Amino acid sequence: MRIFLDTANIDQIKKGVKLGVVSGVTTNPTLVAKEGHKDYEAVVKEICSIVNGPVSAEVVVNDKEAMLAQARKIATWASNVVVKIPSTADGLEVISQLARENIRVNMTLCFSVNQALLGALAGATYVSPFVGRLDDAGHDGMALVKDIVDVFKQYEYLTTEVLAASIRHPLHCVAAAKAGAHIATIPYKVLLQMTKHPLTDVGIERFLADWESVSENK
Ligand code: G3P
Repeated sequence: MRIFLDTANIDQIKKGVKLGVVSGVTTNPTLVAKEGHKDYEAVVKEICSIVNGPVSAEVVVNDKEAMLAQARKIATWASNVVVKIPSTADGLEVISQLARENIRVNMTLCFSVNQALLGALAGATYVSPFVGRLDDAGHDGMALVKDIVDVFKQYEYLTTEVLAASIRHPLHCVAAAKAGAHIATIPYKVLLQMTKHPLTDVGIERFLADWESVSENK
């Protein structure tokens, strides 16, 4: 399973990329607004220049024609940009047109196997089931990821990748990997949490103390 960062924070993206484990970024209008970025195009271009991999940028209109026009524009911002389109009937129409134009799409706000299947048939490069938001609503978000993976596996012609989104904690990452998600997009905080284990810290302290205690090593 590959790891993407789910953020529009430039500093976090730079730090994550330095670790050598981040192969893409996803953003959404909330994340961009949270960072106070005023120039959407400029920030997406900057992220695309930092990351050597796909960067998802969402359309911020809901009308079919407007989505199509905006998606085409976003697609010109960088060669590694991927346009995020919502999982709706209008969205499907837009996705299939963009697919015909070889514009890569991440179908977002996916909450059912049916939505995922339709997104794949329309030609989305990625579908993003929102795990945490389903959990919040009392459903099993990761069961959806597993179901989508299982369905896609049954049909060779479904090449769409499953991008587990709305990941909230390290256990979600383990579960997404076990479910067979191609990618998990995670907040920077979760990436740091994934690196941690108390026994690693205790082990380092003990090794260094033992090393120091031997006089000739000092
Ligand atoms: O990638 C989608 C993600 O940003 C949504 O996360 O935590 O707002 O549900 P969250």
